[in-house]
Amino acid sequence: MMSSSAIGSATPSETCTCVVGLQWGDEAKGKLVDLLGEDHDIVVRYNGGANAGHTIVRDGRSFKLSLLPAGVLNPRLTSVIGNGVVVYPPRFIEEVTQIREAGIEVGGNLMVSERAHVVFPYHMEEERLSETDSEGAIGTTGRGIGPCYQDKVGRVCGIRVGDLLSPDHLRDRLRRVVPWKNRWIQALASGGNAQVFDADKLTQEYLHYGESLRPHVADTCQFLRQSLQQGRRILFEAAQGSLLDIDHGTYPFVTSSSSSPAGIWSGSGVPARRLTRVIGVVKAYTTRVGRGPFPTELTDGPEGTGESIRRKGREYGTVTGRPRRVGWLDLVALRYAAAVSDVDELAVTLLDVLSCVREIAICTAYEIHGERRSDFPADARQLEAATPVLEYLPGWYGEELTQARRFADLPSAARRYVDRVAEELGVPVGIVSVGPDRDQTIIR
Ligand code: IMP
Repeated sequence: MMSSSAIGSATPSETCTCVVGLQWGDEAKGKLVDLLGEDHDIVVRYNGGANAGHTIVRDGRSFKLSLLPAGVLNPRLTSVIGNGVVVYPPRFIEEVTQIREAGIEVGGNLMVSERAHVVFPYHMEEERLSETDSEGAIGTTGRGIGPCYQDKVGRVCGIRVGDLLSPDHLRDRLRRVVPWKNRWIQALASGGNAQVFDADKLTQEYLHYGESLRPHVADTCQFLRQSLQQGRRILFEAAQGSLLDIDHGTYPFVTSSSSSPAGIWSGSGVPARRLTRVIGVVKAYTTRVGRGPFPTELTDGPEGTGESIRRKGREYGTVTGRPRRVGWLDLVALRYAAAVSDVDELAVTLLDVLSCVREIAICTAYEIHGERRSDFPADARQLEAATPVLEYLPGWYGEELTQARRFADLPSAARRYVDRVAEELGVPVGIVSVGPDRDQTIIR
């Protein structure tokens, strides 16, 4: 097993690290969080909900987490679900059960913010109905994320984790909220099938969940600020990727939270200026799930390169099982995402997957309506119209990288590829991952 000090161990002045994806999610951040956890005391999720998908292989066992921070697999760490997360309690309970069944202790080492908002089944029904509009559909994960954040921002219907601990208050709240929700759901269904909800039944159900959550519920913002004062080291685990950020991503084809480090302050209570290290995770190619622009997408059919990468990289959604859209590395998008997330260093993941292609392309610019551009447009329609300007690089076809443990063990074409990414982004690559296991990691 890899020693923690190998991961560029945190110096005393480095107390806050963020691991953030620089693409559209699924950059294999979970493995890095698991590894970097060794050098930290606390792991925090600050955005998203049960829409995130982490597969983490630990001691030969594979864990699939969508809501809990990946740090929860290490009982030495305190794992925090911050106030910026939206919590679906049944999923929380399922994931805790899964981990306990594997013999890993989960108790006071897992904390949930009393300020985090709660996902209810009516959020999922709202989402299901709005996603049936083929024009307006985003291609969401169906986990009620968008509607829950809408309620949070709208204030009138939002319900927080702390509310689940007060029976009379929760009942009053749901008796007010549920009839509105039912009317809204019926309007969305416009005469079609729609599920409506009973306030008192939901109250009973969610009070029960509240009791399961109670031992974990805390003022996590205060806990984190105190922990910083005590010199404890914090690792922030971003869910999704920077290009899915509600403000900085490919709007409207984004998630409903701040998935770049911009979300840390609001979503955890830790001021952004306390952040000392941002590691941008870049998959060696690009994937995207759901709708939205993807200039370098490979649509070359069942026998094509895109399908080979999908198969070798097992590019199927952890949450929904959907095949992920696959394409070449997009340096235009990456330069933008690295700037938005202000990254200090890069981790290149899934490099081993590209052994299945003979020639590898990278996108260095876009052609949009006849104009060559190297900036990343804010307008999704312009991105939809973008043709990638591709440069072809020699690959390392057929050479397996999974045994490489030092950068020098990689074929020269693979080394050149990694160096090229660093050069284009002006950010060093500190970590290269060549397989799902912890020891399949190269630290430079
Ligand atoms: P939502 O987050 O379920 O509302 O989905 C909004 C968009 O974000 C859709 O395109 C989803 O496929 C995408 N998305 C959400 N979570 C993830 C993730 O963890 N990885 C990749 N894509 C995601």
